[in-house]
Amino acid sequence: MDGQGAVLGRGITRPQFRLSPCAPGPIHYTRHMLSYQHIYHAGNLADVHKHSLLAWMLDYLTRKDKPLCYLETHAGRALYDLGDAAARKTGEAAQGIDRVRGWFDAGHPYARVLDAVQVAHGQRAYPGSPLIAARLLRPTDALHLAELHPGEHAALDLAMSPYRVKCHLMDGLDMAFAQTPPTPRRGLMLIDPSYEVKTDYATIPRAIAKLARAWNVGIIALWYPILTSKAHLPMLDDLKTAHPQALRHEVPFAPARPGHGMIGSGMFVINPPYGLDIEAKQRSAQFAKLR
Ligand SMILES: C[S@@+](CC[C@H](N)C(=O)[O-])C[C@H]1O[C@@H](n2cnc3c(N)ncnc32)[C@H](O)[C@@H]1O
Repeated sequence: MDGQGAVLGRGITRPQFRLSPCAPGPIHYTRHMLSYQHIYHAGNLADVHKHSLLAWMLDYLTRKDKPLCYLETHAGRALYDLGDAAARKTGEAAQGIDRVRGWFDAGHPYARVLDAVQVAHGQRAYPGSPLIAARLLRPTDALHLAELHPGEHAALDLAMSPYRVKCHLMDGLDMAFAQTPPTPRRGLMLIDPSYEVKTDYATIPRAIAKLARAWNVGIIALWYPILTSKAHLPMLDDLKTAHPQALRHEVPFAPARPGHGMIGSGMFVINPPYGLDIEAKQRSAQFAKLR
């Protein structure tokens, strides 16, 4: 199974988890088979959007000499080889970071991490979000990462072994609830699901509302796909109603393959850091040139 289907978001055709039907409090998942593997999509245009804004936010937060906490619910394996057959098969990195690397000058935090990771791991190495965070944060900062796929978790653990990071082999939202509010309180949570289950679109706004109540100073960033099916729209309506001050930023792009359902990338950020809107506008201008 290669995780390349086109139905939901980043190509997921099969559910991995089922939401337990009556889960009034914490949200529980029943484990099914895991099919999504980010290696097929690493470095695509959605990653460029998400990772460049994430790197900018983390860099901004480290300008203050106060420790912070980084939480990530759906970590992936953190280090990708874009020369791998899986990555070459979809060609998404070729249409993504390989095409737009020049958007980021050497001083941009995303470019700094890309360069450092290539020096450390080779020309085709690409950092996932956990490695971007580990590279930009300081020894005084706390990092908690969750990944449910045992193989991806093992790879994550290995990639993160040089850093002081806790890699949890568990459901990401369960980890988020368990760690919220985090210590230290200042910080950012990235929620980057693969949207493998249609119920994610209903579950996530409920989970975020709960997390934001428990951690009202936290920056909570959700990635979501822009889909031809418009399946993401009710989720966005719920999010906008519950968090009217949040920043929503979307960039359009051509589908990776004819008939592929994803035609853009979105970030919904609660408590956005000062200046994120300006950074996001630069991304809008850059993505507009691709059209
Ligand atoms: C989109 S990928 C993550 C990519 C990563 N955030 C990045 O940008 O580099 C989603 C990951 O979530 C994992 N996953 C799926 N369901 C999960 C769950 N309920 N809890 C934690 N991880 C999960 C998948 O195995 C996959 O590795």
